[in-house]
Formats: sequence, structure tokens, C-alpha cells
Amino acid sequence: MARQLDAAIRDALVERVRFYRDLGLTEFYRRPVDPALLLAEAADAVEEQQPASVAVEELVVATSPEPQQDNSQPNYSQEDPPIPPRAPFPAQPKIGAVVPAADRAAALEVIREEIGNCTRCALHTGRNKLVFGDGDATARLMFVGEGPGADEDAQGLPFVGKAGQLLNNMIVAMGLRRDQVYIANVVKCRPPGNRTPEPTEANTCTPFLFRQIDVVRPQVLVALGATAATYLLGQRQPLAGLRGRVHAFRGTQLIVTYHPAFLLRDPRQKKEAWADLQIAMKELGLKPPSKG
Ligand code: URA
Repeated sequence: MARQLDAAIRDALVERVRFYRDLGLTEFYRRPVDPALLLAEAADAVEEQQPASVAVEELVVATSPEPQQDNSQPNYSQEDPPIPPRAPFPAQPKIGAVVPAADRAAALEVIREEIGNCTRCALHTGRNKLVFGDGDATARLMFVGEGPGADEDAQGLPFVGKAGQLLNNMIVAMGLRRDQVYIANVVKCRPPGNRTPEPTEANTCTPFLFRQIDVVRPQVLVALGATAATYLLGQRQPLAGLRGRVHAFRGTQLIVTYHPAFLLRDPRQKKEAWADLQIAMKELGLKPPSKG
């Protein structure tokens, strides 16, 4: 029983880290954690004997049920004060020359080859497959996530796990197919235990991401979650301050929204995410597909 409780405490802590991270609180672990609260969560989990995994849901925006109060989570808001930057953001590289549409796939291949069997940061030590990016090299819409998880690390492709299924649904809800967009991440190798990439890791990897963005040159770029928004915009701010508007970024229109993994944990926010995606759709001149 004691061992079971230990494992449950660890799981509750890991789950809490992920939950906070997706809300953009990347430094909460520097704040004290209430052990009594963790113990209570762990005891509940043992009692219920439930697997921690969350069911994947479709993005059903129009028919979303009223938000349910979830008393198992702490009561804190997106309006938490800004987190001071921990590391300076390096100056972003100059925007690359426009690549003709017909040459974009080859130009991405050149970047992939340059990355090679990368050992530029510590993340390579735990990697199975490097996740470069995937999709249409001439896409008008590009998504940027945080970094590969276990499924992506195994397959070498971005967003192929549960969060990826939700992202696929979001893309379809926008009236597009996944193969019509381009998807990449801030870091190309899986951080251990899916932790947030460290600034040195992200800053080592983003020059390649910026080059991918410059080659694809999407009209609209969607940053999925706080880590993507932070490293694309080069400023650390809570998501609440960045969502709901268009940011000019490297010749594209950047829109910030929640990470799909966060939406899986808190489906109440799907409405908000849909509002963000509608801004993207307006920029792209897209209408949602008609039902039926
Ligand atoms: N989460 C991410 O941020 N990126 C992926 O590729 C998968 C999950």
C-alpha cells in the first residue's frame, strides 16, 4: 500500500507539472508545493484505481457542454502575473529570402540534412527519432508545438499521439486537411519525461525552426501553448496576454492558442481555442465546413 501511494504521489506530481505547464506556468515548481494536497490527490487516485489517461474528445465547439467545475484542480487563473525571463532570448536570425513554391520541399530537405544526427544539445541523448516537421512545404497555415512526446519520438513525426488527434480535429474544423498544413516544434528531440525544454535547448533548436518558417512562409502561424509562443515571440508572457490577436512575426500573422494537450485536460477551454482558430481562419479567408 505504501509503495502504491508513493507511485500515486509521483504520478499526481507529474500530472500537476503537465497541467501547469500547459497553462503557461513553467516555473511553478520553484514555488512551494503543498504536500498535504498532493497526498490527498494521490490517495484519491489509489482509491479510485483509475488510469490517469484522458479520453480523446472531438473538438465539438458549437455543442460544448457547460463548463463543469473541477474541484480536483487548484483554483488559479490564466491571469497569474508574468513570469520573469530566466534566460535572455537571442536575437532572431534575419528572415531568409523567399523560396519559390516549387523549391520549398527541397529547401526543407537541405535544413533537415544540415541538422543531421544532431548532438547540439543534451536532448539527443534520450532521443529515438528526431522530429523535424511534417506537412505541405507550401502550406498557408503552419502550427508550432513545444516538442515531441513519446509517440512522436517513436515515429519521427510531430503530433501523432492523443494531442495530435485533437490537433487533427481542430484542422478539420477549420475546413482543412492535415496534409494541407505544416507542423513543427520548438525542439526536435523529446525532452525527458515530456518536461518543458530548457532555454539552452530551445535556443539551440529554434534557428532551424525559424528557417523552416522562412521556407514555408505560411500566411498564418499558430503557436500551440506557452512554450511555442515564448520562443517564437522572444518574450515570456502568460498566454492570456498573447491570445485573441494577431502578432506580426517574420512576415507571417502569428496567432497564439492553447496547446491541444492542455485542451485534453481542460476541455472547457476549447471554446476559447476555437475563437483563436477563427481569427486564423479569417486571416486565411476560410469558412468552417458546413455540417451534414
Ligand atoms: N506536443 C507537442 O508539443 N508536439 C508534438 O509534436 C506532440 C505533442
